[in-house]
Amino acid sequence: MLHIYILHVTFLVLILHRFDRRSSSLCFLLPLLCASYLVAGEESSGAIYNVINFGAVGNGRTDDTKSFLRAWDLACRDRTSPMTTFLVPSGKTFLLNQIKFNGSCHSSHIHFNVLGNLVAPNRRWKVSHTANWITFRDVRGLRIDGGGIIDGRGSRWWDCVKKKECINAPYGVGIFACKNFRMSGLHFRNSPGKHLSLHAVSGAFINGITVDSPESSPNTDGMHIKESHNIIVNGSSFSTGDDCISIGNGSQDIDITHVKCGPGHGISIGSLGNGDEMIHVQRIHVSHCSFVKTTNGARIKTWEGGYGFAKGIIFEQLTFESVVHPILIDQHYCTGLICPRKEPIKKSAVHVSDIHFIGLTGTSSSHAPITLNCSRIIPCTNIQLKDVNIKGAFGIKTQHSVCGHAHIKQRGTIVPPITCLRPPTISSPYA
Ligand SMILES: *[C@@H]1O[C@H](CO)[C@@H](O)[C@H](O)[C@H]1NC(C)=O
Ligand SMILES: *[C@@H]1O[C@H](CO)[C@@H](O)[C@H](O)[C@H]1NC(C)=O
Ligand SMILES: *[C@@H]1O[C@H](CO)[C@@H](O)[C@H](O)[C@H]1NC(C)=O
Ligand SMILES: *[C@@H]1O[C@H](CO)[C@@H](O)[C@H](O)[C@H]1NC(C)=O
Repeated sequence: MLHIYILHVTFLVLILHRFDRRSSSLCFLLPLLCASYLVAGEESSGAIYNVINFGAVGNGRTDDTKSFLRAWDLACRDRTSPMTTFLVPSGKTFLLNQIKFNGSCHSSHIHFNVLGNLVAPNRRWKVSHTANWITFRDVRGLRIDGGGIIDGRGSRWWDCVKKKECINAPYGVGIFACKNFRMSGLHFRNSPGKHLSLHAVSGAFINGITVDSPESSPNTDGMHIKESHNIIVNGSSFSTGDDCISIGNGSQDIDITHVKCGPGHGISIGSLGNGDEMIHVQRIHVSHCSFVKTTNGARIKTWEGGYGFAKGIIFEQLTFESVVHPILIDQHYCTGLICPRKEPIKKSAVHVSDIHFIGLTGTSSSHAPITLNCSRIIPCTNIQLKDVNIKGAFGIKTQHSVCGHAHIKQRGTIVPPITCLRPPTISSPYA
């Protein structure tokens, strides 16, 4: 009897596997059949929700937002399968309006497989302050992968931002309040604002993504991380009009390796402390990255004012090719309409301490490739430089370092040589 039952189930599984990509739509028609498939499917790939079966067209013109939401709703509520796949099939381009994939979901592993392409509307839409085009919210064990292109078609927004008619452009893809997140293989391009944002994410591994936007596109950071911890970014490539990766407040235990940056504004901690904020940033490790024709390389930028700290930051084994400011700490950062500030000089600053620049080599297109411009009120403490060798790019003959209000230690060869203008006298708790 059991034997026959197993045969029966195997048969159904085989049938369903033939229609594998459609199994979710069959679930409407044949709930029992579907249940046996899903139970048996535990050992296979689990249930697959293909957006095509929920009405998505994928011709790049029809609005597929509602179909995606219907598919997500079922995938997210699927109780039977330990691994649920949301499938965006290859060879098609899906037009999505602003969309939110909301958790929490029943399955502890949601695989969002983007084989086809996603495009944003070719117009501007109404946004609130931090709106994303595509948001994933509160989804545990989310994995987003596939070779698809995610095109934010941001040029209308860029024009508007450049003319100062728009203050904010939406971010591209936002990952918010997710745990154990993984992403690989996606291609982002032309986001209206920052391409990928990780906000309140705990645990993420991001590998092999590319971001590609024009050098002239405003505020299009490749990736922005804030209020997140235990994040690894590896083997990825960023070409954009702003920071390749920027790290905001509340970030800790961030590991960035094997990243290519350029064009772009470098890998930046900050900006921090705008609006006199309390800042906690610590344990950031950037290693084995290359910067080609970027405006900055390893950068820490804080506004005047602000409280708290940015500490325990290591920039290690980085190469620069014709970078304007390969090494930069700027505690007088200011951008936008309010600059230069008219208000009285601030009485506080974010304390920048325990910063290591190790094994950084290459060329710079400026005369001051190493600039440590710290706060007079709270100087930088325990800034270590070891084996730093930056030469002039083509046409740059003389180079020097700039250092103000920083307590530095040097090991190995430092080129160009650095001496601090006014070494601070206070002793650091972190030194
Ligand atoms: C997402 O979930 C939150 C909280 O559970 C809820 O307030 C919000 O309305 C949901 N949004 C959508 C689009 O379902
Ligand atoms: C990190 O990226 C490098 C370069 O692309 C690759 O060789 C390596 O396998 C990646 N490591 C992991 C753990 O994925
Ligand atoms: C910065 O992050 C810390 C740690 O998460 C938090 O306590 C603080 O309130 C944040 N500051 C602002 C202005 O959000
Ligand atoms: C630091 O930056 C401020 C503001 O841009 C500038 O006025 C000052 O001269 C700089 N200090 C050094 C040592 O370059």
